[in-house]
Formats: sequence, C-alpha cells, structure tokens
Amino acid sequence: MVASSLLLAALLASPAFAQTFRRTAACPSLGCVLPPDQTDFIAGQTFDIRIEAQAPVNGSEAYNNGTPDEEFHLKIAGEGGQLVDVTEFFGLTEPEVERYNFTYYEDLFAEDAHAPTPVNVLAKSYRNLQLHNPGTYEVELTYNGGQTTKATWVVEPLADCKKAKNVIFFVGDGMAGSMLSAARLLGHKTINGKYQTKLKLDEAPGYGVQMTHSLDSFITDSANSASALFSGKKMTVNGLNAYTDSTGKAFGDPKVETIFEMFRRIEGGQVGIVSKAYIADATPAAVVTHTSQRSQYTSIIEQYLTGVSGNFSWYPWEGVDLLFGGGAENFLPGPGNNNVSQFDRWAGEGYQVGYTKTELEAFDNAQRALAIFTRGNISTWLDQNVYTDLLDLAITPQGERGAHDQPGLKDMTLKAIDILHTRAKERDTGFMLMSEAALIDKEMHVLDIDRALGEVLELDDTVRAVFDHLEEIGELEDTLIVVTADHGHGFDVFGSADTKYLQAQNSDRAKRNAVGIYQNSGLSAYQVPEGVNPTNHSIFTGPQGEGFPVTWDPRYTIAHGWAAIPDHREDYSVNTDHERVPAVKNTTGYFFNPEDNQRGFAMTGNLGVAEGQGVHSLVDVPVFAFGPGHELFRGVMNSPDLAFKVAQALNLGRNSNVTAPYKK
Ligand SMILES: *[C@@H]1O[C@H](CO)[C@@H](O)[C@H](O)[C@H]1NC(C)=O
Ligand SMILES: *[C@@H]1O[C@H](CO)[C@@H](O)[C@H](O)[C@H]1NC(C)=O
Ligand SMILES: *[C@@H]1O[C@H](CO)[C@@H](O)[C@H](O)[C@H]1NC(C)=O
Ligand SMILES: *[C@@H]1O[C@H](CO)[C@@H](O)[C@H](O)[C@H]1NC(C)=O
Ligand SMILES: *[C@@H]1O[C@H](CO)[C@@H](O)[C@H](O)[C@H]1NC(C)=O
Ligand SMILES: *[C@@H]1O[C@H](CO)[C@@H](O)[C@H](O)[C@H]1NC(C)=O
Ligand SMILES: *[C@@H]1O[C@H](CO)[C@@H](O)[C@H](O)[C@H]1NC(C)=O
Ligand SMILES: *[C@@H]1O[C@H](CO)[C@@H](O)[C@H](O)[C@H]1NC(C)=O
Repeated sequence: MVASSLLLAALLASPAFAQTFRRTAACPSLGCVLPPDQTDFIAGQTFDIRIEAQAPVNGSEAYNNGTPDEEFHLKIAGEGGQLVDVTEFFGLTEPEVERYNFTYYEDLFAEDAHAPTPVNVLAKSYRNLQLHNPGTYEVELTYNGGQTTKATWVVEPLADCKKAKNVIFFVGDGMAGSMLSAARLLGHKTINGKYQTKLKLDEAPGYGVQMTHSLDSFITDSANSASALFSGKKMTVNGLNAYTDSTGKAFGDPKVETIFEMFRRIEGGQVGIVSKAYIADATPAAVVTHTSQRSQYTSIIEQYLTGVSGNFSWYPWEGVDLLFGGGAENFLPGPGNNNVSQFDRWAGEGYQVGYTKTELEAFDNAQRALAIFTRGNISTWLDQNVYTDLLDLAITPQGERGAHDQPGLKDMTLKAIDILHTRAKERDTGFMLMSEAALIDKEMHVLDIDRALGEVLELDDTVRAVFDHLEEIGELEDTLIVVTADHGHGFDVFGSADTKYLQAQNSDRAKRNAVGIYQNSGLSAYQVPEGVNPTNHSIFTGPQGEGFPVTWDPRYTIAHGWAAIPDHREDYSVNTDHERVPAVKNTTGYFFNPEDNQRGFAMTGNLGVAEGQGVHSLVDVPVFAFGPGHELFRGVMNSPDLAFKVAQALNLGRNSNVTAPYKK
C-alpha cells in the first residue's frame, strides 16, 4: 500500500519531459554529467568531461526563476577510493565557467502553442583526460542547492596479450541480417534446398549480433552508431565521437578518442578510410573526427587532415594515411574553408591526389593518398557493372557528367591495403582500415532493393578478395577482419512476384495477386538464364562472376517490403534506367512519385508525410570476424563492445599513456 502510493506520488510529481523533445540529450535531470552514467572506457582512452547546472524559467521543471545556483562541482572516486574533487583527481586547474541560455519545447503541444521553455545554464569542461586503471569509477555532480547527479563509469580490463597487428573494419551501412539472406538467394544457387556456393561471410568463425540503439534514442542514426562501434561510447543522435551539450554549437562538446586515434597515438600506426558514400558522411567521419553535428562537412574534411583544431584539440593529429571515396563537393573552395581547395591543400601536405580508378591504381604504395571519384556518392555496383549507361549521369569531381572511370569497393579496399601494408612495413607498425559499403543504406532508404542487394554482394565479394589478398602478401595471420553494420532497415522478403502477370493486370487489387507466398514463392530465378530449364543442376556464372546473379531481371523476382515506408508504388522489378525515387514532395508533404514504378500497385506510407524515404529500424545486426581475435566476437553484443574487442585484440590498453611518433 505504502509503496504503491509513494510510487503514485512520484509519478504525479515527475515532469513531462524527454520523449518527443529532450531538454539536453543524455541529461535527464537538471545536472548534466558527460560522459553520462553507464559509460565504459578503454584503459587510457582520451576524453573530455563536461558538467552543466540548468535552471528552466518555466514549464514542468522550472527552478528558482531560471537561476541556477552558482555553486556546482564534480567529484570522482576510483575503485574503493574516496570522492575527491575532479581537479585534484586529474591534477587540473578549474576551467572558466560558461554562462548562457537556450530554449526547447517540452512536447508537441508546447510546440503547437509556440510556448518554448527558456533554460539558463552554468557549465564547465575538463579536457584531455585519461583513466589508466581498470575498474569502477563513481562520479558525482552537486548542483542547484545540493541536488546530485551520479554516474558510474567502468574502465575495461586490460588484454592478456596483443593478438592482431592489423585490423580491417568493414561496415555494411544499414545491413540487417535479412539483407544477407536475400543477397545469398540472388547470388548463389540452391539445389533441392542446399546452397552450392555461399557468401564469404557465411564462413566467418566469429559470429554474433549487436544491438544498435543509441544513447538517447532507441533508433540510431549512422553518426552515433558508428561512433559507438569506433569509440565504445553510445552517442547522442548526430554526434561524431562528441556528446551533444546544450550550447547548440557543433564544436566544443565533450569528445572521446576512437580506437583508430588510439592506435595512431600509441603505436604510430597507419590509418585508412574507404567509403562508397561522399567521404564527409557519418560513417567515415566517425573514424577520427569529433563534432556533435554530422553535417559539418567542411570541418570533417579538415579534421581528417589536421584533427580538431584550436582550443578544443588534445594532441596533434597528423592526417589519415589515405582517404578514398566520393563527395568532391566538400573539397572545393568555399566560405567554410577560406576559399581553399582541399585537393590543393592535401597535395601540399604530401598526398598524391587522384580522381579516377586509373589514377588510383597508379598510386605509389609508399606515399599517402587522397582519391575522390565523384560529386556525391560513388555509383552503385549495379550501375558500374550491369546498367552501365547510367554512368553517363554520374558527376565527375570536376563537375562534368559521365564519371565512367570509377572504382568499386573492392578496387578501393585492395589498393588501400597495398598502401597501408607498404607504409606499415617500412615503419615497423601495423595498420587499421575502415571500409564502408555505404550504399546499402542509401539504396534501402530509397527502396531500391536491387541496387541495395548489389552493394551487399559487392561487400561480400570484397571480403573474399581481401582474404585472398592478405594471404598473398603474408598478412592474413596478423589481421583481424570485422564485418558488421551500424544499424538495419526493417526489410525482409516474403515471397516471389510474377512480374509478367503483375504488369498485365489493370487494377491495384489484381496486381497484388502476382505475389506468390509459401509453396507459390517457388525457387530463386536469379541464377537461371532465360530459356534454361530451372531443374538443370549446373551452376551458372553470370558476367560479373560467381557470387552475383546471372540476371537482375527475371520474370519471378523477390516480393519484399519494409517496416517504414513513404507513399510509393511497387512493381517488384529492377529499375534499369534510373536509381529509384519513391516519393516526391508536393504542398501536402511527400506523395507517390508519378514517375516511379508506374506498372506497380500503390502502398500507402506509414511515416509522417514529411518523410520521403524509409528510415532505420531497431533490429540487431550481424557481426562477423575472421583472423586473430575473431573468437572475441561471439554471442549477443552491444555496439560499443565492438570497440572494446578491437582494443583487446590490439591490446591498446597496455601502454595507453605513451605516445609513439607517427612518421608521415
Ligand atoms: C538569455 O541570455 C541573454 C544574454 O545573455 C539575456 O539577455 C536573456 O535575458 C537570457 N534569457 C533568460 C530567459 O534568462
Ligand atoms: C515560458 O516563458 C516564455 C516567456 O519568457 C513564454 O514565451 C513561454 O510561452 C513560456 N513557456 C511555457 C512552457 O510556459
Ligand atoms: C576557443 O577558441 C575560439 C576561437 O578559436 C573562441 O571563440 C572560444 O571562446 C574559445 N573557447 C574557450 C572555451 O576557450
Ligand atoms: C571567397 O570567395 C568569394 C567569391 O569569390 C568572396 O566573395 C569571399 O569574400 C571569399 N571569402 C574568403 C573568406 O576569402
Ligand atoms: C547519396 O545517395 C542517396 C541515395 O540516392 C541520396 O539520397 C543522397 O542525396 C546522395 N548523397 C549525395 C551527397 O549525393
Ligand atoms: C544445363 O544447362 C547448361 C547451360 O544451358 C548446359 O550447358 C548443360 O549441358 C545443361 N546440363 C544438363 C545436365 O542438362
Ligand atoms: C499532393 O498530395 C495529395 C495527398 O496528400 C494528393 O491528394 C494530391 O493529388 C497531390 N497533388 C499533386 C499535385 O500531386
Ligand atoms: C603511465 O601510467 C602509469 C599508470 O598510471 C604510470 O605509472 C606511469 O608513470 C605513466 N607513464 C607516463 C609516461 O605518464
């Protein structure tokens, strides 16, 4: 009785915050500690602390007419120790107090009524800190008349030994397990239910899944999910290795060091980044950059080269060893970079610079390299290999139509390994490479299933080729290969579609009868060339080789769908003359694109009408690992665990306060 009435009282008193709109991400009370409660660290990982004391002027959490108490301070205790002032613990001097205010809406009603809540803030940042001893740390902020916010941090145990010299970390952006099942069906033939060949990923000796939710939202975006994979910290939405504070500014937020940065700092190792997206996009950016706003493209390109600049930096970052991808637009002279061409700037720093696959392949393996092949994303595997006329539409870095000389993920990744390996050998170091199959996600967003699955098969083909190449150059035994996704999309396959029948029907209801389910789904038709009896047991090899479909346009295709959709029409056929645009905007929001899949039937969207594309989903994503340390990657993991496991395999915690010189 007593307990339940207390609970009721507590519920009545609890403010209406934090679901639709947050006052400050990762900060449920008026006293904020960042990194927040439940953060885990690699021993010696560099980070910043920020504390804030907030006082809303009105609304459900109003405090003292909007005046935070001047007295606020942070204490910290190591395992079994007493709480001591944070300045004493780390040997710091007190930073200056920041004073400012911001406004936010408590919920959708407040927004509709244009009734914002102003909040006054006192804040301090402590920068460039490290915790070297494994164990549990208790942290306590006192603010607003003696209220406290507590946090528990854990520094992960040290590894027993170093297992891997090199790490190749593949990210299939947006790649749910269901997409691998679908890609396997398209690229590999079964006979009576038995696959005759399989994905390379199907051979991984380390296999598990990871949870992708973010710190402040159960659906993640690619910035904070990649930050979790690379720094071991659940991040706030849109954050790249930096927690979103309440200033609303893109820089100055508390940062955390990534495993790639630690590897460079501790071992002087070589670090490379490859992506099929524009290279300032979130996943490549999460390798070494820091901002709470992933849209800071100009700064991200600068940070690849020089690190976080000015008063927020920790120690010199002397540039990635290589950067290959799309997105030339972010390298051009403009207002954000003092009208300086980043191509010229990188060349001036000693990088070889290239714009085509031919130039990429001619690069000297001993020298650092920048290669950008397109404006926007690199073209999809399907456009580069099957519907190649579409390359006429792709834009070169120089801004002209017809980017025909583009590499695929495999070309870029193999060249990256050659450069990193050559440089590491000359310097007696190891290397870390992040290679992103970025367009799985981009094509899933626009419901272009054939292009998305082409990217999945290209990733698998790349992993296979990397495996063989590492063996050739004698690095297979020393290289940990991890393949995972940063999040999924709610995609799956539920049957087949008879596209010929579908196109012959005149009504939407009749077209839906072209979908065959259970026994009528039949067998995959992607491995059987037109005119050949499907019971013929030979394995066909298409023009793109084993592991790819013989045809992308069979009569019987896969019937598939997504959990989250805009209004669109579905005809279950490959788009041969353009990449898909499912919905277009009109005055009422996004609506069926009249140009898209005209032969298909209408599917009403289930997202807000402001969304013209599908969105990410909650599903756990697969984790595959090969090579030394692969056994660490098993079972059900949480996204930050991957960073800790890579750190374990490399034994990054062992000498974490030393700095090895990096030789350019
Ligand atoms: C917010 O700060 C500005 C400038 O410091 C100040 O003029 C204003 O009164 C503050 N707003 C509130 C609601 O306290
Ligand atoms: C809070 O006060 C401001 C004026 O300072 C007002 O505009 C706003 O509507 C108030 N918000 C709420 C939630 O009452
Ligand atoms: C950091 O430097 C910028 C200019 O580079 C300056 O505007 C800002 O006040 C500085 N911030 C701190 C906390 O020193
Ligand atoms: C950049 O160039 C534009 C156009 O030439 C010019 O208006 C602007 O002042 C320049 N900005 C800087 C920072 O040099
Ligand atoms: C990358 O591709 C996606 C999917 O087509 C598109 O929505 C996005 O705008 C592209 N980004 C750039 C910078 O071209
Ligand atoms: C199966 O089809 C292939 C390609 O058409 C043909 O070369 C082969 O002889 C056929 N095999 C059998 C067992 O019919
Ligand atoms: C705009 O969308 C609405 C549905 O919200 C639709 O009824 C209308 O026909 C569309 N208008 C045009 C011009 O496409
Ligand atoms: C590194 O950390 C260890 C453990 O805290 C300490 O004993 C050692 O003196 C530190 N070395 C340097 C170079 O700071």
